[in-house]
Amino acid sequence: MADVKNILKNMTIEEKIGQLMQQNANVFIKTDAQITGKQFNNGYTQDELSNIGSVLNFKSFSEVKQLQEEHLKNDRNKIPMSFMMDVIHGYRTIYPIPLALGCSFDPDLVTRCTKMASKEATAGGVHITFTPMVDYVRDARWGRVMETCGEDPLLNGIMGAAQVKAFQGNSLREKGTMATCVKHFAAYGGAEAGKDYNTVELSRHVLREYYLPAYKACIDAGAKMVMPSFNSLDGIPATMNKWLMKQVLKDEWGFNGVTISDYNAIGEFLKHGIFDNEKDAAKAAFSAECDIEMISNTYLHHLKELIEEGVFTEQQLDEAVLRVLELKEELGLFEDPYRGVTEEDEQTAFLTPDSRTLVRKAAEECAVLLKNDGILPLSKDVRKIALIGPLADNNQIKGFWACHGRDDECVTVKEGVSALVPNAEITVVKGCGNLFDDYDRSGFDEAVKAAASADVVVLCLGEPQNYSGEGNSRLDIVLPGVQDELAAAVCEVNPNTVAVTFSGRPLSFARLSNNVKAILHMWFPGTEGGNAAASLLFGIANPCGKLSMSFPYSVGQCPIYYNHLNTGRPKRDDSRYYGYCSNYIDGPNLPFYSFGYGLSYANFVYEGLELSSDKLTSSGAIEAVITVKNDSGLDGKETVMLYMRDLVASTARPIQQLIAFEKVEIKAGQTKQIKFNITESMLRFWNDKDELVSEKGRFWLSTGYADHLIFTKEFELI
Ligand code: NOJ
Repeated sequence: MADVKNILKNMTIEEKIGQLMQQNANVFIKTDAQITGKQFNNGYTQDELSNIGSVLNFKSFSEVKQLQEEHLKNDRNKIPMSFMMDVIHGYRTIYPIPLALGCSFDPDLVTRCTKMASKEATAGGVHITFTPMVDYVRDARWGRVMETCGEDPLLNGIMGAAQVKAFQGNSLREKGTMATCVKHFAAYGGAEAGKDYNTVELSRHVLREYYLPAYKACIDAGAKMVMPSFNSLDGIPATMNKWLMKQVLKDEWGFNGVTISDYNAIGEFLKHGIFDNEKDAAKAAFSAECDIEMISNTYLHHLKELIEEGVFTEQQLDEAVLRVLELKEELGLFEDPYRGVTEEDEQTAFLTPDSRTLVRKAAEECAVLLKNDGILPLSKDVRKIALIGPLADNNQIKGFWACHGRDDECVTVKEGVSALVPNAEITVVKGCGNLFDDYDRSGFDEAVKAAASADVVVLCLGEPQNYSGEGNSRLDIVLPGVQDELAAAVCEVNPNTVAVTFSGRPLSFARLSNNVKAILHMWFPGTEGGNAAASLLFGIANPCGKLSMSFPYSVGQCPIYYNHLNTGRPKRDDSRYYGYCSNYIDGPNLPFYSFGYGLSYANFVYEGLELSSDKLTSSGAIEAVITVKNDSGLDGKETVMLYMRDLVASTARPIQQLIAFEKVEIKAGQTKQIKFNITESMLRFWNDKDELVSEKGRFWLSTGYADHLIFTKEFELI
């Protein structure tokens, strides 16, 4: 073990500050200027470059090795650099986007996918991943909803914690493990109007109740790093928000790992209009204990001066640097700066048959069957299939944060269907432009012709993959371009039409659903997307995904979320319009498809919810037993959910709140009982004194899914 405290003792202030810098790999690329012995093109001196502590955005292990070797030659302290990357839903073999993973309601599946990604990414030289992203979301306009597990704090936290544990393993000394960085702390997903980087204004109560729990779950699971978010909260950018960074994160949650700013976020304090100079920006970020500065150079330029002026002590600098060095030590970098990886690993680690099988399975489990008028599954004996739409034979289905995943390694729907039903006659027609937002209808005739002569039409529609992810917010969330029109034209000549849809956010499917007989939503499924879609269409796999985020009826409903308050004037369920209540006069309150919704080819009948008692004490437990029958001839999986409502409390409580779930396999004809233990801690909420409490009184428990709860039973906390 390296004695990092001793190493620290021998470091100069400049070397220490260097450990708090993170730069892109390309800053190390030498130019002619370096050959003459002066400066690199990027403005760093040789000494400054040699001091840089960590790197992001590199291409391969070979590059990592080269940079590390060069660095160790030049760094007199021999402190290896750490290499960080966004490994969000796979490294080279890509699995579904996190919003889709949420729909699996299966933390074990997430664990398996994450371990696979960790193995690949470490072979690619990655030491630390900027994952999990557990921003709580309610607004489908925001492009980064694709990176989270959705609209429920419990689900988001469970999936985030599963990723932390899977990446980090039992010890970071084990080959194939990496450290994780929880992000974006906090409430980045609360961006006003769904516009990326936008202002966030939330009450402490809402923040505590909905937004913070998932970050905390990841920290409790042992995440080594935290990244504050770009947004301001209460007018203060999160990176310099002491309430968040010190009080909540450190004092309340006991986090003692490394914090890292987001990309250029400290430099952007000036854009926020908080400061007019970089020195003040450095001072504010360092005061909030943001350890590493990503990309901007305010620490490099001003931290030494701030120490010399007595604004900070060297002891404070040492504490930050020690956190960074300790993580490097935990990663085993001092003993082996390459963490046991060789160039050969990179040759054998990627896209193995096992990895492909796993991501195919994941894509099947994450897809959500939104509509089925009995047309699915399709028969494998079907003779003529028309595959119509911009995604019919399109490999751009891996999603935005696909790291080193490649489009040309993704299986298209056409390839998947052709492999599964080799004897069928398959016609592929795009029907509209590849840039799905063009308004060219010249392909409609060909599409209609192909549809008219087919036994079945599979419309492959959706968003381009760069419509979601960072910086990609949308004003509207309909299918882009003329795709709805294309669907209408095709359905008119062939009613046997199903839609396979792709997107990085919930879309409003009111129009599409009017036209097609079935909708199978694949999200961005990753490398094996086309094979998974084919398996589901033809019933080789049985759909079991449930929505992790509501699909609005219209964009006008955003932000929309299932766990809302009742208000003083709730809408009467039985009316389209009811005056002076909380509703719209021109459309419904409910989303088109609610959180927790999703169909199967099996038929699950809920037979009851029984409680072991109608009284709960603060130290006791009640057992809730839900009975579900698979009343079909097909085996299937069902996610059984338990929702709670606190009927009377000092702070208004949501009308429904998921408190437990379990995904179970139920064989054809089988009945299963799913048991949940209810304890007092599950009933707690944040009151107006900023305390986490439960209050005695009446509660409801229900099963079903959001907005469609059944078998409500009452109990009392005494
Ligand atoms: C900016 C993004 O907001 C963040 O999620 C990511 O980790 C960094 N860039 C680094 O790529």
